[in-house]
Amino acid sequence: MKLLVTGGAGFVGSHSVNALLQAGHDVTILDNLSTGHRWALQGCELIPIDLRDTYHLNRKLKGRGFEGVLHFAAKSLVGESKNQPAMYYQNNVGGTTNLVRAMQAADIQKLVFSSTAAIFGNPISDLIDEEHPKAPINVYGQTKLVVEQMLQAVTQSSNFSATCLRYFNAAGANNTANLGEWHEPETHLIPNALRAAAGTGNPLTLFGDDYPTVDGTCVRDYVHVDDLASAHVAAIEQMDKRGAFGTYNLGNGNGYSVKDVIAACEKAVGTEIPHTIGPRREGDPATLVASAQKAHNELGWSPKHEGIDEIAQSAWNWECYRRDSLA
Ligand code: UFG
Repeated sequence: MKLLVTGGAGFVGSHSVNALLQAGHDVTILDNLSTGHRWALQGCELIPIDLRDTYHLNRKLKGRGFEGVLHFAAKSLVGESKNQPAMYYQNNVGGTTNLVRAMQAADIQKLVFSSTAAIFGNPISDLIDEEHPKAPINVYGQTKLVVEQMLQAVTQSSNFSATCLRYFNAAGANNTANLGEWHEPETHLIPNALRAAAGTGNPLTLFGDDYPTVDGTCVRDYVHVDDLASAHVAAIEQMDKRGAFGTYNLGNGNGYSVKDVIAACEKAVGTEIPHTIGPRREGDPATLVASAQKAHNELGWSPKHEGIDEIAQSAWNWECYRRDSLA
């Protein structure tokens, strides 16, 4: 298929571009490179515009023959979203609204949208399925939920189709394609732990050890970014077979505490990772673990990299590659 990938120079976006290329699709990337990277483009054409720029957006989408869009471009930091809510709504909600309108004007009717576990807020069940109540406890999660609702309404009033993929904790790296996670500043646990170990980042602080969990630290469902990528390939390829609107939770169904993750990173690096215990980080639910049964049943999706050790090892290989290639 001829596909447009917004945010294709970012972490999950670039791994999905790699998977789409491997599956034989023709990919064009739209990215303002505010957090994405030129090195992640993989030879694809880049449309270097911002989704808030409706004039150029409309012009760039028209007449190109795109058959579908995978929409990763977004602001995605929980802490930043608390401090700059209007900016988050403008980028994530406004940007997606602009994109959908430009798609409709260009007669592109298929969208795969990057959603998040942050739409659920504090879980009321051990495993979170698609029907779990949506009560985000941070602005980032609110913006993603509003977009899901907007997309559902659009699919009900036209022949537009949308699939929302709700990621739990995206992690790991593709060591074959030399792709991986690179945010500035970095806020995520695994790269922070690995960089603390390598001496290339700040010392690690563990945010809170008084949560109601097995060891007091937050529990998350870490899902390998290549597994997220394969779900996107399935979602866009199979969109005609499903209803106009669909939501899928993507995780392994296994919860690992922050302490478990630090231990896995220590194993990958081969040294201890010194860390201090700090206060809780605002907006962090105690536990987030997916039920991905619906994605298994309807998308035929199953993660291939289930263990935290494998995920941490691939992230460490990527850190070493980055360090050596930029040295
Ligand atoms: N953590 C630390 N120290 C760090 C970084 C993180 O202790 O330096 C902890 C966090 O407090 C949390 C866990 O490690 O308990 C995981 O944190 P991440 O920042 O790696 O990931 P989050 O769970 O905060 O974020 C993920 C996605 C977001 C999404 C969020 C939903 O990356 O996009 O889940 O809550 F919004």
